[in-house]
Amino acid sequence: MFSTRGPGPAKEADPRFDANRSMSPISAISTGPAWWSVPPDGESCGHAVRLVREAENPPGNAPGMRAAAVRSFRAPVELLELPVPSPGPNEVAVRLEAAGMNPFDWKIADGALEGRRPHVFPLVLGVDGCGVVERVGEKAKRFRVGTRVAGSFLHDPVGVGTYAEHTVAPETNALAEVPPGVEPGAAAALPTAGLAALDAIERLGLSEGRKLLIVGASGGVGSFAIQLARSRGASVVVAARPASHARLRSLGASGAIAPEAWDSAKVEQLAGPAGFDGLLDLVSDSQQFARWARWLRPGAVAATTVGATDPGRGVRRVAIDMRPSSRGVEELLAEVVRGTLVVPVERTISLDEVPQAVGESRAGRASGKTVIALG
Ligand SMILES: NC(=O)c1ccc[n+]([C@@H]2O[C@H](COP(=O)([O-])OP(=O)(O)OC[C@H]3O[C@@H](n4cnc5c(N)ncnc54)[C@H](OP(=O)(O)O)[C@@H]3O)[C@@H](O)[C@H]2O)c1
Repeated sequence: MFSTRGPGPAKEADPRFDANRSMSPISAISTGPAWWSVPPDGESCGHAVRLVREAENPPGNAPGMRAAAVRSFRAPVELLELPVPSPGPNEVAVRLEAAGMNPFDWKIADGALEGRRPHVFPLVLGVDGCGVVERVGEKAKRFRVGTRVAGSFLHDPVGVGTYAEHTVAPETNALAEVPPGVEPGAAAALPTAGLAALDAIERLGLSEGRKLLIVGASGGVGSFAIQLARSRGASVVVAARPASHARLRSLGASGAIAPEAWDSAKVEQLAGPAGFDGLLDLVSDSQQFARWARWLRPGAVAATTVGATDPGRGVRRVAIDMRPSSRGVEELLAEVVRGTLVVPVERTISLDEVPQAVGESRAGRASGKTVIALG
């Protein structure tokens, strides 16, 4: 059973928040397009709804599953036994084979969407996943039972995530059928980081011969962005910790320098006297972002997924605000099939290892993608 609690207005009239619903069905509404638009200061829109999944240990014969979850915002990640969610009328239920980890997962658990979206607790972490459709709601027509799908499962209420053996999502989510030849782990690692990289490369407007600088390139977005920029004819130099240099060169970076070792002589050598044509910064705060933008030529474009300030000197800033789409997931999967995109799965872990892996992601020591093997 669910009950509504928390600061928001009463929601009895809305069947999605009906406290008398049975325990298993976790109904959902479509995500809408802009779930990445999280204000950096975590500002509240004042309509928070907090649902509580009351039965953590499924009683009697109710099917249960293992999941990595938090009991409240900012609580430690725990392994819990939770009810298997059932699909609502427009949803698909998926038996997950793999989940891809992203920093956004623990940011959600820390309250990144608090006050902006309804949440359910215990909140199962995870947005990206791949698995086999095991049930469909009575109105869901898009996928058949038995189809392997991958994509972003984020929907309302937030907390029916992919760090679990089963999940559900509206069929209109950014999901796509996985083509033969793509492993579930690779498909699960693609969506959020791959779509962000695709969005960044498109907004940077890179073309043949352009020179791109990527800061914070060792993780998911950077590893995909290097390859996507290269396949569009641009060359890429990365500012990254030395331990990653060989791997990033193998993905297509033509130069790699530790962040603290940059100076104008090196920039001139790598990018010419005018500087780089584009910057993709995946880690810096606003001040550091402006410092990296010094190495751009006037008229260049600087993109950031994190901090944002106007770099000045005629450099145009774009904030990456990726909107997940099925078409984007299909495009990424097609690049993998063509061999133009390698999915850098550096580590595959079990659910038991999730709490430790979340801690490592917080510390910024990601290398490529980490995938959770499920089922
Ligand atoms: N707005 C959007 O639409 C969107 C979409 C996807 C991701 N994001 C955000 O973009 C950022 C990068 O995503 P990702 O998936 O590539 O992350 P990731 O896999 O965790 O990689 C982040 C990389 O940043 C570097 N880094 C250096 N110092 C760091 C620190 N103190 N903390 C964290 N990272 C540090 C590391 O690379 P080096 O060793 O090379 O420095 C690390 O591998 C995250 O903040 C994520 O939430 C935003």
